[in-house]
Amino acid sequence: MKATKILALILALALAVCAFAACGDKANDEDVNTNAQGEQAPEESDTIVMGTQIGFPPFEVFDDNAQPAGFDIDLSNMIADAAGKKLQIENMDFGGLIAAIQSGKIDFSAAGMSVTEERLQSVDFSKPYYSSRQVIVVPADSTIASKEDLLGKKVAVQEGTTGDSMVREFKETDNGEPKDNTVSFKLNADVAMEVLNGRADAFVLDEEPSKAIVAQNEGKLKILDVEFGTEEYAIAVKKGNTELLDIINGVIDQMMSDGTYDAMIAEYFPDRAVEAEGEAPVDGAEGAIDQLAEDVDANADAADTAAADAVAE
Ligand code: ARG
Repeated sequence: MKATKILALILALALAVCAFAACGDKANDEDVNTNAQGEQAPEESDTIVMGTQIGFPPFEVFDDNAQPAGFDIDLSNMIADAAGKKLQIENMDFGGLIAAIQSGKIDFSAAGMSVTEERLQSVDFSKPYYSSRQVIVVPADSTIASKEDLLGKKVAVQEGTTGDSMVREFKETDNGEPKDNTVSFKLNADVAMEVLNGRADAFVLDEEPSKAIVAQNEGKLKILDVEFGTEEYAIAVKKGNTELLDIINGVIDQMMSDGTYDAMIAEYFPDRAVEAEGEAPVDGAEGAIDQLAEDVDANADAADTAAADAVAE
């Protein structure tokens, strides 16, 4: 009897220790798992993982202490707070973000990511939080003055971005020739360097990072005043993750209404804040994106809707 009791006690103890140890391991593994495999269900973790590609000022940059900073980082911190979780940031290639969301490696992406019809087929987007556009940047002494002048020229872009696909499509449809002189890079710094070093004739990139690059290289580059399509930035989550999407949309609503958004605009885009005169620059964009989402639902192959034109791919 006594022996059985002792055995039972040992067993119970062993079980308890096991459970405890296993629990400890799991907690440790969680970070690793979310990084490597992403199989971890978000509910089980006290961490929420945001993926982005750092090097897109002023949305995501490394600050003087080599820490991620910028508009999207602030926004992500607010989202993590609202979700009651610790924010973990994964820096990765921009072109890999959608797949990382789909696989669960990251919970959401805040990367100055534009809503496009193509992306809407793979992920869900929050309400838009910023209106941007693609711009053409050329050397200060360049004779390139229009979109059409890019035909037959070598154009640098960031891999997997809307600028990338726009330049490629423009060449294919308007040039008549299959020739594609687009050269793509994972980092915007390399995109700019290609033009600064004279290996490419122009680069096409979102307006805000372009302005930053032009300012950093005073007198060497200029932004052409030509329209290459406007786009809306939004946060991407895994398709069907309405729980997280609701939290994110709540944060966006809140920051738009309580003055936080205006303060962020004033901090990160001093010029733009003056232009907007207190009005959120995304006014009217939401309808276009809802329309776009509807179109995609209605017909996954829909290629040329008015909304798709409104929100450039
Ligand atoms: N807005 C563009 C797009 O959605 C470029 C975004 C690039 N973002 C970045 N963090 N590098 O394709």
